Amino acid sequence: MAVVGKLELLIVSALLLLTACYSNVQRGYKTTLKSVASSEGKPWPIPQLYIPTPTTYTLNSDSFKINPTGKTCDTLVAAMTRYYNVIFYPGRQNDALRFKPISKSKLTVGTELPYLNVNLENDCEIYPSLDMDEWYQLFVKSDGAILTARSIWGALRGLETFSQLVYQTPDGTFTINDTKIEDYPRFSHRGLLIDTSRHFVPKKILLQNLDAMAYNKYNVFHWHIVDDQSFPYQSRHFPELSNLGAYDPHTHVYSQQDVAEIIEYARQRGIRVIPEFDTPGHSESWGPAIPGLLTPCYKSGQPDGSYGPIDPTKNSTYDFLKVIVMEWTKVFPDKYVHLGGDEVSFDCWKSNPAVTQFMQKMGYGTDYSKLEQYYMQNILNIVSSDQDGYVIWQEVVDNGVKVNPDTVVEVWKDRHNPATYKAELSKVTGLNLRALLSACWYLNDISYGVDWPKYYACDPHDFQGTDAQKKLVIGGEACMWGEYVDGTNLISRLWPRASAVAERLWSPKQYNNTAEAAPRIEEHRCRMLRRGLNAEPANGPGFCKYEMQVN
Ligand SMILES: *[C@@H]1O[C@H](CO)[C@@H](O)[C@H](O)[C@H]1NC(C)=O
Ligand SMILES: *[C@@H]1O[C@H](CO)[C@@H](O)[C@H](O)[C@H]1NC(C)=O
Ligand SMILES: *[C@@H]1O[C@H](CO)[C@@H](O)[C@H](O)[C@H]1NC(C)=O
Repeated sequence: MAVVGKLELLIVSALLLLTACYSNVQRGYKTTLKSVASSEGKPWPIPQLYIPTPTTYTLNSDSFKINPTGKTCDTLVAAMTRYYNVIFYPGRQNDALRFKPISKSKLTVGTELPYLNVNLENDCEIYPSLDMDEWYQLFVKSDGAILTARSIWGALRGLETFSQLVYQTPDGTFTINDTKIEDYPRFSHRGLLIDTSRHFVPKKILLQNLDAMAYNKYNVFHWHIVDDQSFPYQSRHFPELSNLGAYDPHTHVYSQQDVAEIIEYARQRGIRVIPEFDTPGHSESWGPAIPGLLTPCYKSGQPDGSYGPIDPTKNSTYDFLKVIVMEWTKVFPDKYVHLGGDEVSFDCWKSNPAVTQFMQKMGYGTDYSKLEQYYMQNILNIVSSDQDGYVIWQEVVDNGVKVNPDTVVEVWKDRHNPATYKAELSKVTGLNLRALLSACWYLNDISYGVDWPKYYACDPHDFQGTDAQKKLVIGGEACMWGEYVDGTNLISRLWPRASAVAERLWSPKQYNNTAEAAPRIEEHRCRMLRRGLNAEPANGPGFCKYEMQVN
């Protein structure tokens, strides 16, 4: 009997404990235990000029209207519908609120904001470009909100900002503060590299990622589409490339239709798609489809069965490249293509007797960077004869290849040593070439803890150089290399870490205070959850009232 008594006591205390916990839940979370309290209705990235006031208006999803009052086009009409849904997320509003009962007395009352007028001043351009105008002005006033933009791209950015100003009070009321904004980006190229070769990334995830990019005002999807490991791009002229080079020729490929859909989805969001076809290294997956393209490596005077970079000595190499380059420039409407050119290993070229012979004939001696230069020069000529511009990795310039004055050089090397990439930025811009920085933004590198402040602190203008040199830095790119990333973790690994880079590339340089940014990135992460993206926590312990609705 004594034993049962103790048991009963245990059960009663357990019940008491549960009740205590339950009433704690009822009282709500303990703010002090959250690492960072979220802001409310503050935009990310922060606009150039942002003047919020304490006056608030309410928005009624039944009567609120987004009206075009200037020029209009399909891109704008689609964006207005999209942003209405982003703001009010019809059909799902109650999910977020179901564990917070509304008390009638607490219902927000206030002046209702009746409309957002979108005054687009110029005809829509079809495709975004490096020179696109992303300027906009946004006034939220008692009689209505007015968004003014010169170009469709500015209108898209302004709609995004407007959607971020709207927040929900605890009773669920959509609310916005009286605000004045004037905004434009600090850098014109704000890119995100996704690698779809080390792992295939399904189209659905790439589209979702384009949404995330639009929510962060990124404007370039750098598609590192093929590499050594696989060739998922389904070519019109050389279908064997993906038939023999993809992980699976049916399920792990991007058809022409997929590519077109991705480009269109990006275009609608003001995002350029720049494909990267990295050569002459990083091209093993091309080998099976194009016999003779890769250099056979030799050991003790015999081919050892392995292959190195593309064989630069053969005319057939350039005949092939002419056709495939012409195809890329047709398929991808952007003026720029990324030609790679990084990490070319010379060992295989050195081992091959035919290459050695060619070196002698050309008078290169044993300087294999001259051979690389010969290759890059040829492919650059092919691309520029198609009137396209190109981006290349820094090694091409480091190896002394002569490039066109309008070449863009991407600086990526030595992310663990800022002095090195800063020196490289000085060097590249000193040659009067335009530069992109990605060295400090390799987001595939992960570690335990809060890491976005590290990305936030890196600034593309922090190097030795004249004002003219600084102007040649057109932006930067966050990179997500795919060795350990596929469709299962791409979104959560990128967001909101890539948001830190987005603000660095868009907002004024002086926004460098992590303590100011933390509540906003906390809110922005929660906002992305509300919009259906499984963005990971940004700042340590905390919660987001919308996290229950991530699919
Ligand atoms: C919006 O207005 C509320 C109520 O006056 C105020 O507490 C809040 O700080 C304002 N938000 C911003 C971003 O200024
Ligand atoms: C390769 O092209 C070059 C330049 O057009 C030409 O001089 C050479 O004869 C060609 N070689 C072969 C083997 O066709
Ligand atoms: C942040 O910006 C301010 C103002 O431009 C500057 O004085 C300060 O050195 C910057 N801090 C860092 C860590 O870059």
